[in-house]
Amino acid sequence: MLNERKIAVIGFGSIGRTFVRLLTAKSHYIKKLAELRVVAVADSKGMVLKPSGFSDYELIKLCELPLSGLRSLPESLDLDIDLLYSEVQPDIHVELTPANYETGEPGLSNIVNAINNHAHVVTANKAPLALRFSELMDLARKNEVKIGFRSTVMGGTPLIDMLLSIRSYSVESIHGILNATTNFMLTEMHEKLIPMEEALRRAQAIGIAETDPRLDLDGWDSAAKIVILSNVVRREIKLQNVIREPLKVELSDIAECLRNNNVIKYVAALEPDGKAYVKPMKLSRRDPLAGVDGTLNAVRIGTTIGEITLVGKGGGRIETAHNVLDDVIGVML
Ligand SMILES: NC(=O)c1ccc[n+]([C@@H]2O[C@H](COP(=O)([O-])OP(=O)(O)OC[C@H]3O[C@@H](n4cnc5c(N)ncnc54)[C@H](OP(=O)(O)O)[C@@H]3O)[C@@H](O)[C@H]2O)c1
Repeated sequence: MLNERKIAVIGFGSIGRTFVRLLTAKSHYIKKLAELRVVAVADSKGMVLKPSGFSDYELIKLCELPLSGLRSLPESLDLDIDLLYSEVQPDIHVELTPANYETGEPGLSNIVNAINNHAHVVTANKAPLALRFSELMDLARKNEVKIGFRSTVMGGTPLIDMLLSIRSYSVESIHGILNATTNFMLTEMHEKLIPMEEALRRAQAIGIAETDPRLDLDGWDSAAKIVILSNVVRREIKLQNVIREPLKVELSDIAECLRNNNVIKYVAALEPDGKAYVKPMKLSRRDPLAGVDGTLNAVRIGTTIGEITLVGKGGGRIETAHNVLDDVIGVML
């Protein structure tokens, strides 16, 4: 069939399932562009394969399984990415596994394997890109495939697309509020004068913070994002070179800031001299980032022809799944 593409979905949790549901909901529109067939779905415990492609009904039934539930199906196989590739030869590999900022695994090996098998890659997993951005891009170029990663930073706002479109001038600096959980917590602390532990409990209660929030509070999530943004604008920095200061703010710090008409924000930055960091910073109320509250994200980009400020949603479940689908459509056009 003309323009037929086979998709493997690796990682079938919150984003994997939302993406698959979206794919079925939009199938009428997508059919005008291409015949997309999901031929493989994998979680940490198992995988299911169907070379002819799962029907929309079968995909919805998969989404109704409990987490780690693929292995409960009689046709499931042990997770084996080599076997998956030899059995169903996907054209597009959608990587939705959890981020591990020490090793990049399992996403890193999965992505390298996909590229070496000449499959396009779409990933919401930041870790492989934060650790190996230029190597992965070089490998993709060599194998004539694309990597779509617009969901990795500020997924609810087309930031990466905007940065990729900057070609005739240079980006000198980036300052951003790139983590929704910590920004929500700081906003609660400023507005309600509650301690950080209580702000974290509120973030967990509304479902924006993980039970183990260390990736947010220790700055890993923001650091990975500033590395990806810097590499997008051709300023290569490494995750291990980003200085990370964990978020630790006392109520007395907040009170002092309020008295002086300042606010504390958890800022991720790339400076003109190449120094990159994530740290709590006192900002004047006049700073465009100072008024970015709650779960909103923002970036202030200093360029050789002026400053750009973008404020918008970060990546929630729905936004991320839409970005993944946009990238899938993008890599096949
Ligand atoms: N949630 C968001 O709003 C959001 C926004 C932007 C980016 N992201 C990124 O998107 C990715 C997915 O996020 P999520 O919220 O969907 O996470 P999640 O709900 O924890 O789902 C992760 C999935 O990956 C599976 N998995 C774990 N190890 C695996 C392995 N070795 N091989 C295959 N599958 C494996 C898990 O399997 P089990 O079900 O068996 O545990 C689960 O299905 C993460 O990298 C996250 O940082 C998420």
